[in-house]
Amino acid sequence: RDAGEMAEELLGWYDRHARVLPWRVNPAQRAAGILPDPYAVWLSEIMLQQTTVAAVRDYFTRFMALWPDVAALAAADDARVMGEWAGLGYYARARNLLKCARVVAGELGGVFPDSAEGLRALPGIGPYTAGAIAAIAFDRPEPVVDGNVERVMARLFRIETPLPRAKPEMRDKAAAMTPATRPGDYAQAVMDLGATICTPKSPACGICPWREPCQARAAGIAADLPAREAKKPK
Ligand code: ADE
Repeated sequence: RDAGEMAEELLGWYDRHARVLPWRVNPAQRAAGILPDPYAVWLSEIMLQQTTVAAVRDYFTRFMALWPDVAALAAADDARVMGEWAGLGYYARARNLLKCARVVAGELGGVFPDSAEGLRALPGIGPYTAGAIAAIAFDRPEPVVDGNVERVMARLFRIETPLPRAKPEMRDKAAAMTPATRPGDYAQAVMDLGATICTPKSPACGICPWREPCQARAAGIAADLPAREAKKPK
């Protein structure tokens, strides 16, 4: 099986099983050419840094109701935004959120850059988030590699090198797997696979769309990967 065929298999699974999340445009809508609002994608990705989908959901909906576009958020009162962020943690994210909104609204005419490189230049947007927004909001074929994706790649390709040493290899595999068609759906499909099937403990290999090509499953070691470097004694 080549990477393109495997991406197709995963996308077929995603068409049937995509999680319904408030910042998403579902696969049928995307097939009709509808892309999500970049502002909503950006807001969700900032909230999802270091925070779970379950915790983010209601905060995202509330922010979108209070500040439906980047101009509204840019004009918001700082203390009000910090107050609404309370509970999500990592408050530097909220400060950068406002900074970024003000750059986009004030200097970019309210339009988010449509490339990972352009997004990367904005406050609070690192390489992971830039790739995620470029892929999801603009269908750019950017590899999107978070902890979930590392785990999926470690198992699919039986990468037994421990983390963090294995990161470059995992990145390379993730990049090689990223398809030119439907990259935004593909990025979200790998996230969903990691969150719902290829879970850290007791992965549900029996219902995985990649069960046949998965090298760790074939070896019976899926649940043991990725390996982690033993902590060095201080
Ligand atoms: N984690 C980070 N970004 C995500 C997204 N767009 N959907 C689900 N989980 C995510």
